[in-house]
Amino acid sequence: MHPQLPSLGANSSSTDRRLSALIRHLEGSSSSSSAMESQNQTISASATSAFSDNSVFGHVVRAPEDAILGVTVAYNKDPSPVKLNLGVGAYRTEEGKPLVLTVLQFALICSSRVKEYLPIVGLADFNKLSAKLIFGADSPAIRENRVTTVQCLSGTGSLRVGAEFLAKHYHQRTIYIPQPTWGNHVKIFTLAGLSVKTYSYYDPATRGLNFQGLLEDLGSAPSGAIVLLHACAHNPTGVDPTLQQWEQIRQLMRSKGLLPFFDSAYQGFASGSLDADAQSVRMFVADGGECLAAQSYAKNMGLYGERVGALSIVCKTADVAGRVESQLKLVIRPMYSNPPIHGASIVATILKDRNMFNEWTIELKAMADRIISMRQQLFDALCARGTPGDWSHIVKQIGMFTFTGLNSQQVTFMTKEYHIYLTSDGRISMAGLSSKTVPHLADAIHAAVTRVA
Ligand SMILES: Cc1ncc(COP(=O)(O)O)c(C=O)c1O
Repeated sequence: MHPQLPSLGANSSSTDRRLSALIRHLEGSSSSSSAMESQNQTISASATSAFSDNSVFGHVVRAPEDAILGVTVAYNKDPSPVKLNLGVGAYRTEEGKPLVLTVLQFALICSSRVKEYLPIVGLADFNKLSAKLIFGADSPAIRENRVTTVQCLSGTGSLRVGAEFLAKHYHQRTIYIPQPTWGNHVKIFTLAGLSVKTYSYYDPATRGLNFQGLLEDLGSAPSGAIVLLHACAHNPTGVDPTLQQWEQIRQLMRSKGLLPFFDSAYQGFASGSLDADAQSVRMFVADGGECLAAQSYAKNMGLYGERVGALSIVCKTADVAGRVESQLKLVIRPMYSNPPIHGASIVATILKDRNMFNEWTIELKAMADRIISMRQQLFDALCARGTPGDWSHIVKQIGMFTFTGLNSQQVTFMTKEYHIYLTSDGRISMAGLSSKTVPHLADAIHAAVTRVA
């Protein structure tokens, strides 16, 4: 009898009888010929080793932590009571706590309870309202049905779907991204099959925009190349072109037939106004030309983990837009089949209800204003300490991040001595700061600047 299986009595059920037959079968096979036994031993020996040291994945090398998310991993391991995480771009309250917007709580009650699959392109209402949010309620492109919008997995997923579509259907496979840019851009576009090049963006000397360099680089890009543009609140620099500069960029790009791909991860977060933060995108749509836009609701609605976003492609005609959408479905279906319903129905509920929408804009403005006030407080604290250098870029830059200009040795020093966590390029998330933690950060920056070259 097999040692692990129970013995069966006379009144056994049909399940018991099947089990009993299985036991007999197993007992029979274990008492077979010695050739079989030795084969079984070989099998069991290799089976055992496959689950121990000689893993079939034994050659896999440990990958480095993600440059941004790895900061949180290190922060979580630090037992210090004064530790401060300024690495990840997530909004925190004055008490350092994550914020769930009040409007989300209302929307949760009112949003759909349906848990059926969504269509491949996502929730229709969500798509329509997302296009309206970024392009404007009076956008001629929407009125003329020249826009196709598909719900995607937050900003990252929207960029990836757009990139996969371009790699398959666009005649130019080169995308120009700003130098520097959000760390994930290179990987997203490369893995989608595009070839990535950079254009000048940031000037370390002025800690502002290298506008001349930008114009020269885009001016020498091959005709038709794709250009990734941060719609507002450029990450990591917090440096945006002025409206006049945007207009010059638009004229240059249109004259060379460069295709704009907007990444809009911070609409409303930069200035506190949803319309002002979409100006750059709307300028490009107003000229009747084509473009792509990836939207994220992670930051502006605090829906980080719900992964809600949208990809819109503005086309010349409704007919082209329809065909483009049919191909986007072919990109999405084998990737994740269709997007999740929960977050999108919350967003759609807020966007279509006037009261909830207004409540959202008030909360959004409060988040943007708190970040702006953190900039002023940090700037004042450094001035009060007489910290060497010009720190005016802290108040001039916009959005979630300040590109401090601190070098990687100074960052390492701040982490080691002050338990302050930030990315090695010196980027700090202003949204992770509070009035209480500003003095600690100012002390750390002061010490880093005066003691580490
Ligand atoms: C510039 C930029 N694009 C896209 C994203 C994508 O964010 P998510 O996928 O969480 O919406 C981020 C997030 O930090 C970002 O900073």
